[in-house]
Order: sequence, then C-alpha cells, then structure tokens
Amino acid sequence: MKTDKSDILALLRGSNGYVSGQQLCAQFGVSRTAVWKVINQLKEEGYKIESVTNKGYRLLESPDVLSKSEISSRLTTKWAGQSLYYFDETGSTNIDAKRYAEDGAVHGTVVVADMQTTGRGRRGRMWQSPSGSAIYMTILLKPDFPPDKASMLTLVMALGVAEAITEVTGMDAGIKWPNDIVVNKKKVCGILTEMNAEQDYIQYVVIGVGINVNNASPEEFPEEIRKTATSLRIESGKQLGRAALIERVLFHFEQNYDTYVRKLDLSELMEAYDRHLLNLNAEVKVLDPKGEFTGIARGINESGELLVEREDGEVVQVYAGEVSVRGLYGYV
Ligand code: BTN
Repeated sequence: MKTDKSDILALLRGSNGYVSGQQLCAQFGVSRTAVWKVINQLKEEGYKIESVTNKGYRLLESPDVLSKSEISSRLTTKWAGQSLYYFDETGSTNIDAKRYAEDGAVHGTVVVADMQTTGRGRRGRMWQSPSGSAIYMTILLKPDFPPDKASMLTLVMALGVAEAITEVTGMDAGIKWPNDIVVNKKKVCGILTEMNAEQDYIQYVVIGVGINVNNASPEEFPEEIRKTATSLRIESGKQLGRAALIERVLFHFEQNYDTYVRKLDLSELMEAYDRHLLNLNAEVKVLDPKGEFTGIARGINESGELLVEREDGEVVQVYAGEVSVRGLYGYV
C-alpha cells in the first residue's frame, strides 16, 4: 500500500499529542522507513514536526503551504474537491478546469493554484494573481439540469464563500449582489462562472473563485483597485491558512449546491443569502443600460434576481446580466 502523505498529515493534525511511529506503520501498513520518508518530505515543505524517541511524532506548526496533500487531507466533502489538481503556477484555473472537463473529469473536480499568469476576471478584465497570498480555485460541475438554471450557481457559490469567510475569520462577509464578497466595504473575493452548453443540455460549468487572503498591505494590489480591494489579513490583522479556508468554501458550496439542486431554485437558500446581502433594505442605484433608477433593495427572489422597490411602490426584479447595482456612495 502506498503511504499517502495526506493521510499521515491528517492523522498528525487530528491528534493532540504524539503519534508513535509504530501506530503510523500499523495504520497505513507500511515500514518505519516509509513513514520516516514522508515525515521528512513534510518537514521540507515547511511543516514543523517534532520527533521524540519512544514517543513519536507531533505536528507543531503548519505553515500556509498550499499543496495537494495539505488540501485533500482536510476535505470533509462528499464530492466537491475529491478529485483535486494543484499547481504552484498555472495560466488560469478556469482554463485548466475546462480542459479537464473536455478530457472527462468528474463532477466536483477542483483545480487550485498558488499563482496564475493569466488570471481572468469578469467582463474580460485581468485578475492579478501573485503567489503566496491568495486562493485561486475553480470547481468543475457537470449538472444534469437545463442551461437556464446555471446562472444561479454563481450565487450559490457566493453564499458558500461568504459563509466560509464568516466562519473562519469571525468577520461579517457581505455579498454585493450578485457575487462579489465584501468585508468592511471592500472586495475580498470575485467569482467567474463559465458554461459550455448546447441549447438544452449543459456540457459543464466551471466556477472560478479568487480570494485575497494573506496580502499584507493595500500596496500589494494594482493601483486601479487599491481603493476597493482588500484582503482578509488586512481586515482581520491575522494570517490565515489558505488550505483550511478552501476546505470550508468547498464544504459550504457542496451543501448549498445539493440544496439548490433539490428544487432548482434558490427558495431554500434565499434567507441565508439575504443575511449576507449588503444594502438589504437600503437605497441602491440600479445601473441599467436602459435607464438608471434608485430604490430600496428588498432581497433576492428564488431566481436570484434582486428585488428593488421603487419610490412609487413598484417592485422591480433586477436580472444580473448587464446591470450593476451600487449603494448610493462608493463601490458597495
Ligand atoms: C471578478 O472579476 O470579480 C471575478 C474574478 C475571478 C478570479 C478567479 S481566480 C480563479 C479563477 N481563475 C481565473 O482565471 N479566474 C478565476
């Protein structure tokens, strides 16, 4: 049997005290030398592991390393990320996920990278993707529902990310409808969903998520987004483990996706989404190419449209497409 680094890592992480070499050998059915080799590999990756004669091994510190074993050893999901690809560097995880989809990869396959050279944002923009500080990940979905039900998946992911960030950092993560995640009025995460479909059949959907996690200061962001972008570290003052956050995002996304698929609408997720929705019951400006208007945001409906109540009392359903919605001041 092959000794899996992720399994040994998970065992060390899950136990408070020492884990004896003998226990590791017995559990994984491998020799002491094999265990010793894996421990050394982990140390080389930056893990601080204490080894004490007659006691065994103890994990003292996990650095913010991103690696396949660091992520998969944490997974608690049924399907999201169970097939996982990791790259220290890639062009774009969305492009990778699409290529894997074409090659027959399974529903739930996830691609994570520490750095992207051609990271892509919405509306053809670039997504600056330096190494060591952020999460760049894409999940591949192969749903068997009609293409017109796919646009809501972006909101399903936005909710998952907001829930994960709130849980891990204790800060309020808001959703700027439909899918930017905002902390203290600045964007920490963007989501890019792409689909390949026939008229009535989805080949696949990829949902790409970029989260600014450990960027140390605003100067690390390109000039043009410095006023509107931030990172979880800047806002919380704490460094976070990216792998742990990835696990939480996948966990919440999987739960929300399974809920969504039961009814193929957002009826069972609306309440949770609205709890994170910025500008709920506040005045917003709807930048509709057909004409701007202001009103009070009243939450989303089961199709993911934003309900905006105009001054005359009429409630307009705003569809994401071309429209953007702002509070009356600034980005949020
Ligand atoms: C936005 O413009 O707000 C969306 C940004 C999406 C960025 C992520 S990073 C991982 C994935 N790969 C990409 O090239 N883009 C998405």
